[in-house]
Amino acid sequence: MTSTLDAPSSNAGGLRDRGAASAPAHPQSHEVRLDAVGRSFPAAGARQVVLREVDLDLTAGEIVAVVGPSGCGKSTLLRLIAGLDRPSAGEIRIGDTPLRGTDPRTAVAFQEPRLLPWRTLEHNVALGLPRGTGRREGRERVRELLQLVGLEHAATQRPREVSGGMAQRASLARALARSPEVLLLDEPFGALDALTRLRMQDLLLEIHAAEPTTVLVVTHDVEEALYLADRVLLLRSLLEDSSSGSIARTVEVPGDRPRDRADRTLADLRVELLEGLGVHG
Ligand SMILES: Nc1ncnc2c1ncn2[C@@H]1O[C@H](COP(=O)(O)OP(=O)(O)OP(=O)(O)O)[C@@H](O)[C@H]1O
Ligand SMILES: [Mg+2]
Repeated sequence: MTSTLDAPSSNAGGLRDRGAASAPAHPQSHEVRLDAVGRSFPAAGARQVVLREVDLDLTAGEIVAVVGPSGCGKSTLLRLIAGLDRPSAGEIRIGDTPLRGTDPRTAVAFQEPRLLPWRTLEHNVALGLPRGTGRREGRERVRELLQLVGLEHAATQRPREVSGGMAQRASLARALARSPEVLLLDEPFGALDALTRLRMQDLLLEIHAAEPTTVLVVTHDVEEALYLADRVLLLRSLLEDSSSGSIARTVEVPGDRPRDRADRTLADLRVELLEGLGVHG
């Protein structure tokens, strides 16, 4: 568990060269479309409305970040798009297909890596391969993914033997194993220290340049959202305002990636989003 191992290796940089910033979107990349999606849960004899009237189009290859106060329904939204939960209202489509349960074109990674502790990292990554992948092909893909996230040296280690950053990278590699067209990330770097977090953000962008999938990333961190995303959605909590739709604001982030973290425009957007979250400077 050395701190140097926390840093993603430069191997992803090689793939970035292959992908380049202007890489085309995933050749079969599908759009995600949410049409008036709502979700409510039974609560104390009534129903608690968590999400209301969510209209959202994700363009193929786009990165969209979702921010909002705790409990506003970010994870609920992600679970709905992952097909792990069903909306109470509205419809979700991946490409032209209405979503009915989990979809092999999507992959999810959560805040905690959720690796099998008794399996090696390479075996954990292999668990993400599509069913029916041949042995040799699977081995090759796992090797490529471990290289992409800078873990080739740790392939045979078990989760308890590696750092939090390494486990998180293995989790990301597992999510990428099936070359998903839609990658859903729920606070993927939330449990990491600040420096590893910044490195993981760059790694995600390098991976996206090499394998440009559609990405929806939930985060608490406004700066992270502005650094990663083409668009940032600000969700409101319906506990305070149950008459409105869940999307309080959509912020288009200008400029090509990788962005300058000190960019003046990003600083202004940060203030705007923080004000939207009720934090006044
Ligand atoms: N299966 C469920 N049954 C009942 N209520 C639920 C269920 N799932 C979520 N909720 C409720 O929905 C609300 C939103 O939860 P959710 O986890 O989506 O919030 P969040 O925005 O991700 O919050 P955080 O930022 O803290 O992760 C919460 O009030 C939660 O209690
Ligand atoms: Mg959540």
